[in-house]
Formats: sequence, C-alpha cells, structure tokens
Amino acid sequence: MSEALTIALTKGRILRETLPLLARAGIEPLEDIDQSRKLVFDTSRAGVQLVIIRGTDVPTYVRHGAADMGVVGKDVLLEHGAEGLYEPLDLGIARCRLMTAGPVGWRGSGGRIRVATKFVNIARRHFAQRGEHADVIKLYGAMELAPIMNLADLIVDIVDTGNTLRANGMEPLDEIAAISSRLIVNKASMRSRHGAVQRIVDDLADIVRHD
Ligand code: PRP
Repeated sequence: MSEALTIALTKGRILRETLPLLARAGIEPLEDIDQSRKLVFDTSRAGVQLVIIRGTDVPTYVRHGAADMGVVGKDVLLEHGAEGLYEPLDLGIARCRLMTAGPVGWRGSGGRIRVATKFVNIARRHFAQRGEHADVIKLYGAMELAPIMNLADLIVDIVDTGNTLRANGMEPLDEIAAISSRLIVNKASMRSRHGAVQRIVDDLADIVRHD
C-alpha cells in the first residue's frame, strides 16, 4: 500500500455526486478528472489521493487494502458481498431502487420465471425468499431488451426515473432494495490509519447530515 491515504471512486453519477461532498470536506482533485485519462489523482488535502475504477472493483480494492476507502452503490455491495469491509456511512447520493420489472400487464407464466439481470445473486435470493422458481440469466447491460426479445419474462434492474422501463413497454413490479452510495473502509486501515480515516468519515457525516 502506498503512503497516501487512497479513496476509490467510480466515474459517472457516483463520481459527479461524490466530488462536491469531498470538496466541502476540503478534498479536491488537483486536476479535472473528466478531462484526464489518468487513474490516480492527488488532492488538495496532503496525503490523500483518489483512484478511479469500475464500481464493481471498488469493494475489491478496499477489501485488499489497495485502497483505504471507497464510495460504492449499495447494489454492488448487495450483489458482490461486503465481507471484510466497514460501511460506516450512507452518503445519501445516487439514490435509486433495485426492482423487478416486467412487460406492462404481465401476469405470470404459471411455471418457472425466466429473469434476466446483471444482479444474479440478488435476483436468486429475492425469488427464493418468495418461494418462486426462477431461472436467472446473467446479462451485462440493456436488461430491458430481454423480455422484448423473449430471452426472459422479467428483469431485475436499477430504476431511477422509470423512463428506461417505460420506453421499452415495461413497468416496475416489486422493490427489492432502496439504493444509495455508501462509504466503505478497509478494516486494517480503520485501525492503522484511524486518525486520517475517521476524520474523513466524520467530515462527510457532518456534511451529509446537514444536507
Ligand atoms: C441504469 C439501469 C437502467 C437505467 C434506469 O443504467 O440499468 O437502464 O439506469 O434509469 P431510469 O429509471 O432513470 O431510466 P445506467 O445508466 O446506470 O447504466 P448501466 O446500464 O451501465 O448500469
């Protein structure tokens, strides 16, 4: 692990909504992340750096201590597990819902349900808890296409405005979980770098509380 305290972030909505919170805590990247192809950025707080990686990789970097802290969607933690991580703070950003959805008017097939999703573990747990038999089909994107093309009956996906579902003739069915971005911390870093880590947790907690 390098000497700098490292925070792992993901490009996209989480980054856009996390950077203003970090800025209010006095942590600003020294160059424009969107204009750069670099992956590591020094910040205005000495000894704190940001790394930009895929959302699903954030818990991996933090679990192994390659990053001390990270910001990641609850959906990723539910799907890939949060073992070996502390989750001290709900940042309350990038809010959305994880839902089942189906073609408008879908009333069930009477038999096994085919479910397309990139959240296979969440989907399996959800249907098992309801005592429903589901064949879960792993996809990597454009889940809404699966029922149109008769690859699946239902999907499990993130719903924000609902526009993507509507545009594809689908409607939300059951909410599986409310999603927002969480601050996660490596367990060893929480002990060995307690002062620096706790200061960031406390600063962000203060900011989030007053929003
Ligand atoms: C998510 C999700 C839907 C869309 C829902 O995709 O997979 O496609 O957002 O948003 P809406 O309800 O406001 O239409 P995202 O844009 O995060 O990209 P992804 O497919 O890479 O997850």
